[in-house]
Amino acid sequence: MTNEDQFQLATYKKMPIAAERGEGVWIYTSDGDKYLDLYGGHAVAGTGHCHPHVVNAINKQASELLFYSNLVYSSARARAAEKLVSIAPRPLTKTFFCNSGTEANENAMRMARMATGREKIITFSGGFHGRTADAISATFLGKYRELGKPNVPGHLEAEFGNVESVRALADDTVAAIMLEPIQSMAGVRMAQPEFYAALRTLCDERGIVLIYDEVQTGVGRTGEWFFAGSEAGGGVVPDVVTVAKSLGSGVPVGACLVTDAIASHIKENDLGTTFGGGMLAMAAVTATLEAIEQDGMLENVRCIEAYLRERLQEVEQVVAVHGLGFLLGIEFKENAAAIHKRLLERRIITGTSSDPKVLRLLPPLCLTEKHIDEFVLATDFHG
Ligand SMILES: Cc1ncc(COP(=O)(O)O)c(C=O)c1O
Repeated sequence: MTNEDQFQLATYKKMPIAAERGEGVWIYTSDGDKYLDLYGGHAVAGTGHCHPHVVNAINKQASELLFYSNLVYSSARARAAEKLVSIAPRPLTKTFFCNSGTEANENAMRMARMATGREKIITFSGGFHGRTADAISATFLGKYRELGKPNVPGHLEAEFGNVESVRALADDTVAAIMLEPIQSMAGVRMAQPEFYAALRTLCDERGIVLIYDEVQTGVGRTGEWFFAGSEAGGGVVPDVVTVAKSLGSGVPVGACLVTDAIASHIKENDLGTTFGGGMLAMAAVTATLEAIEQDGMLENVRCIEAYLRERLQEVEQVVAVHGLGFLLGIEFKENAAAIHKRLLERRIITGTSSDPKVLRLLPPLCLTEKHIDEFVLATDFHG
């Protein structure tokens, strides 16, 4: 037993490797092995592991000021907020910084209740929104909601992709409809553009706030900065977008992006968090977004996704490839857990999902064709 197992609660089924160092798409272990990371450190290493621009910015900020709360102004926070808003689709014009995905979703739901004076929230079967009380109550996926018992009241479940199931629930007691626009943990499930457009119309008609949980899809993962506003999403822009995961390249940070209309309902003291907007995280946010821009990572994602899809067509065991950009679910004929294990033995890290046939890829946005070739070869599909 390692010290970690001895002194830490065993809440995760771990891979049998100890990550010591990272560089781009590679993880180096304590045994001196090198792994191709197609899971991106749990969808966090969007810029790749230890991108030099991000590391330099964190180092510089760390030597100047690690932290001061929102009680003071900060140029690091101002830069991060401006940069984040600059890449968001209009009319999302203001941000609130927090520390994680679940916290971003809690605050998004709270803002929707404040803006509407209503309490209920509609979310979807298969969606995952986090593990704190309100977010886990909004999570209708497998056993997760059970873990949060007693759940927060007023959470309603609709069927993803079925607008009629939403319409039936969306009365004038509903504050928000919240969704993962691509349901990642459920097996990378995506709806038709018409579904997102119909949700937007429904929300407009009935005075409901539309929230996209872009904790996984945001910050360039789909080949666009956000799923919000994208062609795949019917050009729909919600009232609130939540992000976290890759936003700080590994420094914990989350954010809500909101419209002026939502912002107008939020007053002093309505929301808060000690660590949200801290300087170290803010330096990481700005540098992360700059690195994605400077290295042309959005174009890279689109280009390499096309290459991967093309290569996978040759592969007999692959039934379908779900998702968009670098949030991909590869559906196999056989159990994905076995493929995950086989790939790990061949020094490639991938992810599973709650669909036993779907292997999930959430690689750094700097992945290249060479890495795809390695992945396809390692699966040994060609015999
Ligand atoms: C879509 C989505 N929302 C929310 C969360 C919760 O984020 P965090 O673990 O940072 O609280 C996750 C985490 O996996 C997620 O995938």
